[in-house]
Amino acid sequence: MLRLDISRVKKAVTEEELNSLIPDLRRAHETLINKEGPGSEYTGWLELPEKTDKDELSRLKAAADKIRRGSSVLVVIGIGGSYLGARAAIEFIKGGFYNSGATSPEIYFLGNGLSTDYYNEIIRIIGDRDFSVNVISKSGGTTEPAVAFRLFKSLIEEKYGKEDARTRIFATTDARRGALKTLADAEGYECFVIPDDIGGRYSVLTPVGLLPMLAAGIDADRVLGGARTMMTRLVCEKSLKSAAWRYAGIRNALYNTGKNIELLTYFEPRFRFAAEWWKQLFGESEGKENKGIFPASAEFTADLHSLGQYIQQGERTLFETIVNFRAEKEDVIIPHMRDDFDGLNYLSGKSISYINDKAYAGTALAHEDGGVPNLTIELSGANEECFGALVYFFEFSCALSGYMLGVNPFNQPGVEEYKRNMFALLDKPGFGELAGKLRERLDGNK
Ligand code: PA5
Repeated sequence: MLRLDISRVKKAVTEEELNSLIPDLRRAHETLINKEGPGSEYTGWLELPEKTDKDELSRLKAAADKIRRGSSVLVVIGIGGSYLGARAAIEFIKGGFYNSGATSPEIYFLGNGLSTDYYNEIIRIIGDRDFSVNVISKSGGTTEPAVAFRLFKSLIEEKYGKEDARTRIFATTDARRGALKTLADAEGYECFVIPDDIGGRYSVLTPVGLLPMLAAGIDADRVLGGARTMMTRLVCEKSLKSAAWRYAGIRNALYNTGKNIELLTYFEPRFRFAAEWWKQLFGESEGKENKGIFPASAEFTADLHSLGQYIQQGERTLFETIVNFRAEKEDVIIPHMRDDFDGLNYLSGKSISYINDKAYAGTALAHEDGGVPNLTIELSGANEECFGALVYFFEFSCALSGYMLGVNPFNQPGVEEYKRNMFALLDKPGFGELAGKLRERLDGNK
């Protein structure tokens, strides 16, 4: 399902160096699984694959069936951890062109930004078709999704009337707290719970990700099964045989030699949102107290023609993690041309995936030669089990890595800064003093 190849980091991190990290890795592992470290109250994701509430899962499946039967479009409203995982799963498993396929419903994500164009496009795309809404927010009060939901609540009520609208709105939120929970209870929306002990970026295997996945026709049991297999492996394996130990250990060793940017790369565009999800996971978990590896991503081979020059010869602060997998079984074969007008007959009869494989192998070696140590995560496919396994692998590795770095991998205090300024500039009650100071600064900059 998932295999980690570290052969191309051996020059940068020797066996000896990796072995010397074993005590730190063991300490981080014990701290995590014994729930003794900072933020341990948010480690419910650790045992989630085997503790998923069966009744909740049945309700999720029934809700997804209802959406699939009665709606041509599902609008999923959420941001950050309440958005990226669901989109990552749908694109990875169903492909980036999911919405253009024959399946129903089409799924559009909203509330993950404040672009007027994007709003208008979604409204135009829905047109007069039937739609449902899944609004997702743990706090229940994040501005971007709250604005989107206010708008879509009014659109859906206008179209169906208040009574019918409430049967088309599904709220995924805290069990007890927050404006969304209060509203959902008052209006009678069907609610799904984000457990108290699971933070946003670790929540993809809760109803946050599961309802959109099920609505897209993804088999949630298989996703959870893949995560469960990985959980069994990673929780029990306390040695460098563990892929999570090797990944977290190598990241830590490379960071200590000045490699402070990790580039997650992939050769299949359907991985794009999985990379976005990964960036949030590692960025929010490690980037604090003036520390942490900066998580970036690049899509190959496209970005080899843009970022490739920098990766090969720019500042040597990068290391690379390549996620390699083959999605489609059906090959596309290069035709033979009698006149060989483009000189490509040496490839005739070969498949596009064969060329992609060689591009991967050539890139990995070139980057190693250029001073960019690289690891490869090999996945056996782009299916439900692999997605579940990958999510758990990254979550576990990220928590280990954060503890090795000496930070709390489960909080995100820095995210509040922009919100305070935005509220002040929007004249939200209670932010008057800050608004004055910010306006002075903005006027001074003119
Ligand atoms: O990881 C996190 O905690 C954040 O990215 C949140 O998921 C994001 O800010 C959305 O928060 P909420 O679900 O409360 O609307």
